[in-house]
Amino acid sequence: MYDNWEDLEKSIIGCKKCKLFTNRNNIVFGTGDKQSDIMLIGEGPGADEDLQAIPFVGKAGKLMNMAFDALNIKRDKVYIANIVKCRPPANRNPENDEAQACLDYLRNQVLLVKPKIIVLLGNVALKNILGKEYGITAARGKWVEKKGIWYMPTWHPAALLRDDNKKIDFWKDLKEVKNKAKDMNIGGD
Ligand code: URA
Ligand code: SF4
Repeated sequence: MYDNWEDLEKSIIGCKKCKLFTNRNNIVFGTGDKQSDIMLIGEGPGADEDLQAIPFVGKAGKLMNMAFDALNIKRDKVYIANIVKCRPPANRNPENDEAQACLDYLRNQVLLVKPKIIVLLGNVALKNILGKEYGITAARGKWVEKKGIWYMPTWHPAALLRDDNKKIDFWKDLKEVKNKAKDMNIGGD
């Protein structure tokens, strides 16, 4: 683990720790406020993210931005990262060995950001962070506290594109995050 961003960012350059390196254009490390109290964790880059090297800039990201706007959450005031930093082919889910290989980077990011709230975007983020015993359908919208960090599991933004009902849940869950941040007297706007 590195105690500073410079060394951590340097350590990932050219990473070949898993097979996802073969098809990537860019490593998508993370974006936003590195000192934010709120962090969001997705699954892995899609095509747009792979080209731009920024998380959540494609269709799903735009939808997430709309929810942020509606709730007055500023994208540059939170920190956003993914379980895997390289795009899985054809947007398949990251495989277990890939997630395991990449998770140290994310753990180090969490260590440096020191968030008080982490939003888990979808099942892949949920299972890799909180454990395989969790499932998104049962877990979403319910706070889990672990080692002083409050976790809010919610739908992956891409799932909202396929199911309008999930949009309402997603809005509700982010609103919960807003409220909790307010209760805890921490940022996000
Ligand atoms: N989906 C994700 O999980 N992460 C991104 O960065 C983009 C889409
Ligand atoms: Fe390295 Fe992560 Fe990319 Fe795999 S996904 S090559 S572990 S940066």
